[in-house]
Amino acid sequence: MHLPTPEETLPSENNFLTLGIETSCDETSAAVVRGPKKVLSNIVASQFDLHVKYGGVVPELACRRHLEIIEKVVQSALDEAGVTDNDIGLVSVAHGPGLIGALLIGVMFAKAYAAASGKPIIGLNHLEAHLYSTVMSNEAVEFPAIGAIVSGGHTSLYYMPEEGKYRLLGSTVDDAVGESFDKVASLLGLPYPGGPSIERAALRGDPNSIKFPLGMTKKRSYNFSYAGLKTAVLYHIKGHGKTKVDSNIISEDEKNDVAASFQYAALSVIVNKALRAAEEFKAKSILVGGGVSRNNYLRDLFDKKGPKKGVRVYFPRPDLCTDNAAMVAGLGYVKYARDPSNAGPDFEADPNIRSLN
Ligand code: KG4
Ligand code: ZN
Repeated sequence: MHLPTPEETLPSENNFLTLGIETSCDETSAAVVRGPKKVLSNIVASQFDLHVKYGGVVPELACRRHLEIIEKVVQSALDEAGVTDNDIGLVSVAHGPGLIGALLIGVMFAKAYAAASGKPIIGLNHLEAHLYSTVMSNEAVEFPAIGAIVSGGHTSLYYMPEEGKYRLLGSTVDDAVGESFDKVASLLGLPYPGGPSIERAALRGDPNSIKFPLGMTKKRSYNFSYAGLKTAVLYHIKGHGKTKVDSNIISEDEKNDVAASFQYAALSVIVNKALRAAEEFKAKSILVGGGVSRNNYLRDLFDKKGPKKGVRVYFPRPDLCTDNAAMVAGLGYVKYARDPSNAGPDFEADPNIRSLN
């Protein structure tokens, strides 16, 4: 089969369209992006209804739902962008990390679509796409930078000497920060997904009312730990030695205070470690990506502390914070434009993929 050469497929970023596909967890998403940044459509079909009664994502159900709707979601993305298969220059799909069954649906669909339409395809790391969503949302980002991934599955800091280059500085040794929001929300009887619920409750609470341990391992390390914080919240609500919590016995005021104090403990450590890394590596910027980057308290903490250290902190636009295919399409374009040999169908769904690029 003849794959288009770069000259044929990269006329200019002004009219090159990438179809992005994202199915790594519980969102089925497809997007059409022009060049590296212009989002023409970004359909995100949340499986919220499916998982809410379980209080978390059930992998088998997620996988089945992706399979049921992926074709429709892709067609909606094309329709909303006002384009057809012929207009697409590249297919870009997140092939890991994530749930294996869920990833497989996106990867298989993307490969079949690319093969049937004769388009080049690129497989990329979902976490790199989260960091790229920040580049995509801002005019120009200065490097070197510190990349902070704060999501439901990951909490990691990277040193980025330039765009597209990553050195892992540290990551969580147990729970991810988003996961801890979800678990604490469930302890408090707040609705799933927990991140936005905690943020809302925290607005009416006092972050200094309860002293929870910060979500960290050793102070000098760039690793994180959230299991202790979650347990501290559990003990606070119910008392030591008990594991079952009846959230109905906690007053609204107390829930709000727990939410606010937990949020402070969970997020301030990310801000402090990212700023310390920026200082150590003489970074000009911090890029924050992943679902928790939607949190306004986190944004405020960074906005207050960053300028004092001479660092600019960048966030994704709100619709690009949680899982979405636009970030996958944009990053796919950047990698393809940098070197078309980055494309090729020689990749598999990889739930534990490590390297970012
Ligand atoms: O990036 P994402 O959509 O999926 C993963 O790659 O994991 O992140 C989802 C996580 C969930 O844990 C959710 O509770 C959290 O992001 N989240 C938030 C907020 N919005 C979503 N956490 C704190 N505050 C928010 N506003
Ligand atoms: Zn994600």
